[in-house]
Amino acid sequence: MASPMLKFYNGQQIPVLGLGTWKSKPGEVKYAVEIALDVGYRHLDCAHVYGNEKEVGEGIGKKIKSGVVTRSDIFVTSKLWNTFHRPDLVENACRTSLTNLGLEYLDLYLMHWPFAYKEEGELFPSVEGKIQFSDVDYLDTWKAMEKLVDTGLVRSIGISNFNSSQIARLLKSARIKPVTNQVECHPYLNQTRLAKVCSDNGILVTAYSPLGSPDRPWAKPGDPQLLDEPKLKSICEKYKKSPAQILIRYQIDRGIIVIPKSVNKDRITQNFQVFDFKLSAADIAEIDSFDCNGRLLLMTGASGHQYHPFEKDDY
Ligand code: A2P
Repeated sequence: MASPMLKFYNGQQIPVLGLGTWKSKPGEVKYAVEIALDVGYRHLDCAHVYGNEKEVGEGIGKKIKSGVVTRSDIFVTSKLWNTFHRPDLVENACRTSLTNLGLEYLDLYLMHWPFAYKEEGELFPSVEGKIQFSDVDYLDTWKAMEKLVDTGLVRSIGISNFNSSQIARLLKSARIKPVTNQVECHPYLNQTRLAKVCSDNGILVTAYSPLGSPDRPWAKPGDPQLLDEPKLKSICEKYKKSPAQILIRYQIDRGIIVIPKSVNKDRITQNFQVFDFKLSAADIAEIDSFDCNGRLLLMTGASGHQYHPFEKDDY
């Protein structure tokens, strides 16, 4: 069964379920992309900073060559990294992702974070362990991203990790509205308030870390594991689905795009088997009640940046 599509305000369609590639090692991700395309995924979520776009591109290229998919069958997202926010760097950053992915256009290009890092050096420029910031305003970066739509390098543009005030500020000056805000979203941080702001403005939400990212590099033994959440058990039994499948379906049933990451054939396959059931409103409400403001990705490296999205009293 193919993934259902959601429609952006601009008419472009996106498969509601995509393959996440954050933390997928270069040596594993080509295979993961090939499996995913064989299984029926048509949406791949990528980023320059993941350091694996070349291998993602090899997987895509192989499946286009063998006739499994055509370019227009698939939806590919990439993201502008923080060191390329200065407007004169944006087009080249986009072209680098295109070259790595072996594509002529992106379906979607996101600003990965609202804050910028010192330009042009390392991806995490640091001095004595402290990340070096840049004060480029995301409104200026956005203007340069709008030009990528004009020139046809990308079909749509969006944002990631923006809080509600930053969205409001962006909307005041944007010529082209973002189609989506990609944020951490799972039952421990269900983002209901932010999702309402987005939907009131015609912006779809994309959920990253929908399974609670058990492979996040900073996970500590004893941290709560969303996939092992005891309260999910009875819901899994009721629908005869795994915790991952329930967590994925939870987002789909809330109208949220979802991008679970896996590099394992069985799990990539399992995560796509979510179109033969639907959660009841009562079960969605039950899962909603797990929320505990449980943000996993705090981006403390950028602590103190004026555009850090999680440090002010905002959502
Ligand atoms: P793996 O890549 O070995 O399958 P998130 O998308 O929230 O970042 O979570 C990704 C993590 O969840 C990875 O560690 C991934 O491991 C694991 N994972 C992906 N799918 C499943 C699944 N169906 N069951 C259990 N763990 C999964």
